[in-house]
Amino acid sequence: MVGRNMLAHPAGDMPDVLAPSRSELDLTDENAVRRYLHDMRPDVVIHAAGKVGGIKANMADPVGFYLQNLQIGTNVLLAARDSGAKKVINLGSTCMYPRHAENPLVETSILTGELEPTNEGYALAKIGVQRLGQYLSSSSLDFEVKTIIPCNLYGPFDKFDELNAHLIPAVLRKLHLAREQGDEAVTIWGDGTARREFMYVGDLTGLLWRCCSDFDRLPPLMNAGIGRDFSIKDYYEIAAEIVGYKGRFVYDTSQPTGMKQKLASSELAAEWGWKAKTDLHEGLTRTYEYFRANQ
Ligand SMILES: NC(=O)c1ccc[n+]([C@@H]2O[C@H](COP(=O)([O-])OP(=O)(O)OC[C@H]3O[C@@H](n4cnc5c(N)ncnc54)[C@H](OP(=O)(O)O)[C@@H]3O)[C@@H](O)[C@H]2O)c1
Repeated sequence: MVGRNMLAHPAGDMPDVLAPSRSELDLTDENAVRRYLHDMRPDVVIHAAGKVGGIKANMADPVGFYLQNLQIGTNVLLAARDSGAKKVINLGSTCMYPRHAENPLVETSILTGELEPTNEGYALAKIGVQRLGQYLSSSSLDFEVKTIIPCNLYGPFDKFDELNAHLIPAVLRKLHLAREQGDEAVTIWGDGTARREFMYVGDLTGLLWRCCSDFDRLPPLMNAGIGRDFSIKDYYEIAAEIVGYKGRFVYDTSQPTGMKQKLASSELAAEWGWKAKTDLHEGLTRTYEYFRANQ
C-alpha cells in the first residue's frame, strides 16, 4: 500500500525511482538484494516492504511475521550500506511501543516495557531492524538510517480480504456487504471503546518524499500520525454513514482487540515542520471509492 501510493503520488521534483516487485527481487534472498543494490547504486533507499497484516494474521503466523520482517530488514539495511547508498528511510510501526506505554506514545518509550502479545513477533522484528539501523548509523560517517513510525494507515491499495485486512478496510467491506445483503446487524470485535489513530496513506507518502529531500534535519526516529484518535465505535459509525449502512451494531467481547489505546505523539514531526492534512471523513470516502472500483 505505501509503495504503490508513493508511485501514484510522486513528489514535485521526482527522482528516478526503482520499485522492484517481489517477483523481480525477493528481499529474503540476501545475495539477490546485495546484487540488486550493488548494480543499481541508489542514493536513497526507502524500505517499505514487509509481511504486514491485522490481528488475525499476526496471531496465526507469529513465526512468519517475526522471521520474514527481520530477515528482509537486515538484508536491505546491510546491502544498502555496502552498496554505497548514504540514506535509508526505514518504516516502523506503532506496535513497537510497549503495551503499557503512556499515550501519546513518545519515540523514547520504545523498549521500556513488554509488548502487546497479539503482534509481538512483528513488533520484535520492527524493533530489531530499527535498532540495527541505529547501530549502523553510529558506526559509519556517511551512512544513515532513519526510521519513521507511522500510526495505522488506510487508503487505496489497502488489503480488503478477511484474513489480512486492518480495521478500516475490514469495516468498509463488512458494512458494504451488510448493506448489500440487507443485514440488520453488524458485529464489532470487543466493546467498541478501544481507541486507534488512523492516517490516510496519501499523507504518509507526502512525508516520505519530503524525508528524501530534507533527510539531514529528519530525527533518527520519528512518529508520523494525525495527532488524534477515535474509538472503534466512531470508525464504524462514520464508515456506516459513508457506505449508507443503516442497521445496528452488536459487540462480541469474546474476541481480541489488542491495546486499549494507541496514539502516537506528533510533537517531533511538528518540530520538523510536518502535519497530516486529510480529514477522516474525506480519507474514508476516498478509500471506499477505491474499494468499490476495485473489489
Ligand atoms: N498498513 C499500515 O497500517 C501500516 C502502519 C504502520 C506501519 N506500516 C509499515 O509500512 C510498511 C509498508 O506497509 P504496507 O501497508 O504498504 O504493506 P503492504 O501493502 O503489505 O506492502 C508490503 C509490500 O512488501 C512486499 N514484500 C513482502 N515480502 C517481500 C519479499 N520477501 N520480497 C519482496 N517484497 C516483499 C509485498 O509484496 P507482495 O505484494 O508480493 O506481497 C508488498 O508489496 C511496512 O513496513 C509496515 O510495517 C504499515
